[in-house]
Amino acid sequence: MTRTVAIDGPAGAGKSTLARLLAEHLGVERLDTGAMYRAVAWAVLRAGLDPAAGEAVASLCRGLRIEVADRVLVDGVDATEGIRGADVDATVSVVAANPAVRAELVGRQRAWVDARGGGVLEGRDIGTVVLPGADLKVYLTASPGERAQRRAGERRDGRSAEEIGAQLAARDRIDSSRRDSPLPTVEDAAADALVIDSTGLDAQAVLQEVLACL
Ligand code: DC
Repeated sequence: MTRTVAIDGPAGAGKSTLARLLAEHLGVERLDTGAMYRAVAWAVLRAGLDPAAGEAVASLCRGLRIEVADRVLVDGVDATEGIRGADVDATVSVVAANPAVRAELVGRQRAWVDARGGGVLEGRDIGTVVLPGADLKVYLTASPGERAQRRAGERRDGRSAEEIGAQLAARDRIDSSRRDSPLPTVEDAAADALVIDSTGLDAQAVLQEVLACL
């Protein structure tokens, strides 16, 4: 029986939609691990810390209560919209490159799975680092143009698809070149991952491809 599913891939590839549909199908919960890194970046900005101040950011992170479900609460404050803001978009890659932050959040992600006996986790390093023993690993990708279009549709803050595309490309560059747990390319995604290019596919078509592998 499939209890743990890892969904990795770049921003805008459709991970969240797939995670939601798959979790519903399997009757398990899902965890958006990107929201956890965003929550830390949001708290860093709120505290007026330099995002690149490694130890100060790690220490803040270790003391933060982060709850990610339908709403995202950071130390009890609703940050659901705040973590999707342009300021967090521009900061989160630096925070996510901090090895001490990653160690803390990876520990919490594994504890989340242990407490539930499974779940669907989406992120960048789930199949390679967080849950290398996951029952199913999916690496979801899409063309840069389609990823930017999807993100522009989600964000209602007036940024154009071009602006968002440029920011996504910059973030992908930092995420895939950082030393600790870089975003794997399709080529080095966990060797046992099901690779799906969702360009031109709707959510149901992607779900059906995954279900065919269960
Ligand atoms: O998926 P997203 O755009 O919400 O992710 C936000 C940032 O967090 C992005 O820069 C990648 C990073 N991230 C990560 O390093 N590891 C994860 N497991 C999830 C997200």
